[in-house]
Amino acid sequence: MSLSNIFILLILIHLTFTQTVRGKDCVCDLKNSDPAFPEKKLKNVETTALQCIGTITPEMMTDLDRLVLGLQQRIKQVEENVIVLEKEDDRNLYGAVTLRIIELEIAEIQDLLHKLNSTTRNYRHLSVQTAAQLEDMKDAMVELEKFDSMQVIKTNRENQRVKRSLEQCKEELNATAAPPTVPPARCGLGRMVSVAGPRIYSLTVYSTSYTYGAWGRDANPAPGGENKYWLVVLSSSNVYGNFIRQYSTLSTLLLGIGPTDTYISSSNPTTNTIQGPNMVMYGNALYYNCYNTYSVCQFNMTTRSVSTVALPKDTGYNSKFPFAHLGATYTYTDMDFTTDESGVYVIYATTSNFGNVIISKVETSNPPVLNQTWSTSLYKRTVTNTFMVCGVLYATRYLDKDTEEIFYSYDTKTKEERYDLNMKIKKMQTNIEFLNYDPRDHLLYVYSDAFILTYELIFQ
Ligand SMILES: *[C@@H]1O[C@H](CO)[C@@H](O)[C@H](O)[C@H]1NC(C)=O
Ligand SMILES: *[C@@H]1O[C@H](CO)[C@@H](O)[C@H](O)[C@H]1NC(C)=O
Ligand SMILES: *[C@@H]1O[C@H](CO)[C@@H](O)[C@H](O)[C@H]1NC(C)=O
Ligand SMILES: *[C@@H]1O[C@H](CO)[C@@H](O)[C@H](O)[C@H]1NC(C)=O
Repeated sequence: MSLSNIFILLILIHLTFTQTVRGKDCVCDLKNSDPAFPEKKLKNVETTALQCIGTITPEMMTDLDRLVLGLQQRIKQVEENVIVLEKEDDRNLYGAVTLRIIELEIAEIQDLLHKLNSTTRNYRHLSVQTAAQLEDMKDAMVELEKFDSMQVIKTNRENQRVKRSLEQCKEELNATAAPPTVPPARCGLGRMVSVAGPRIYSLTVYSTSYTYGAWGRDANPAPGGENKYWLVVLSSSNVYGNFIRQYSTLSTLLLGIGPTDTYISSSNPTTNTIQGPNMVMYGNALYYNCYNTYSVCQFNMTTRSVSTVALPKDTGYNSKFPFAHLGATYTYTDMDFTTDESGVYVIYATTSNFGNVIISKVETSNPPVLNQTWSTSLYKRTVTNTFMVCGVLYATRYLDKDTEEIFYSYDTKTKEERYDLNMKIKKMQTNIEFLNYDPRDHLLYVYSDAFILTYELIFQ
């Protein structure tokens, strides 16, 4: 497939797509307090406007809508990738590999669009109905405007404004959903606005031996364990780990003094040892992806015993739905554990959700139990890593070797998702293999190509 063919295909996808995404939340701002206005007509328009708001509300964000939103983002990303590829088209192997990845992505998007096509009829019907309603509203407003200009010239200006709003409203309907509102401040933190740092940037005692690993503090420590830090390196093939190293303070960790090692098993890998880097410590237990399965492992640091709970059968594991970007895949990152003010969550993707991210609350009982679950439109392979703050999931993506961007959020309270966050993280190494938020100090803990870092989250 040549580049020009890809462009044509993209344009076709776009055309098909814009036909299917019409009919999102539409709030038409109608205000007119002039007493000379014919009230009945205005009432009619207002009623229609209310209907418009009533029929298309955020509650109508069905699974289908979510899928469409996710697809839109993927198409946008493919377009960006094609532009990158064009710039780098020096006929070398990287270019060929990249082109193949884009081709596969396009094939997959086409396949999804095909599936969508059969189920969007009601949706389209709704869009057409709403567009007609808006048309009527506009006509009514034009009439009102005439009436107005005969009576009071002053109100003409206001009518123009309303007309403009209606046009804008229509355009939005034609284009895409308006971005959801900013998640409200919770946990007394205010709104997250930026990421400062790095604050800490250091190698561990293992120097550059292990590019995959994880570290941090227990988000809910036992009394006396508040200052402890843990470190896990995936010492076998950059995929598998079998022990947890702990230090009594940050400085002993940075200097590599006096560690305590706790082994899950003497062999590595074996049943219920660690697979992939995105684990967390909570309540003196380590939560991670169990070796070679789609289960959550809970390793009790006191009793050294493992309890497990299985995720849905079609959950990706063994690098089926890893974190990735165009240039690289973060192998065996199918499962990502996160901690926030309310406990532990597991982030994963399933075939039935088209490889898009799913969030499940992990109750930290023994054995652990999966509780509430949220499906998102976020395609997992376009993400580097995720973390949660106050019940809101944030996702980062690779921009270049120096910059990572927090671009996405999903609020588990309101189910609102956004793709327009624009918070940069200044990287010291190219890749981020592990990232997690510590609700105790509001720092992000990062493991990046054998280096350990912290960043400070800034709240408004
Ligand atoms: C969608 O389905 C209709 C018939 O149901 C068909 O005419 C149309 O070509 C399909 N569009 C795509 C993009 O598959
Ligand atoms: C919206 O789309 C319809 C048909 O696709 C088109 O006729 C109309 O001009 C568009 N309206 C705007 C405001 O872009
Ligand atoms: C770990 O084991 C200890 C001792 O039996 C127990 O008190 C604690 O609740 C266990 N932790 C978890 C998370 O099950
Ligand atoms: C599941 O979550 C709900 C809401 O937070 C909570 O009330 C319930 O106790 C949880 N279930 C388990 C098994 O922990």
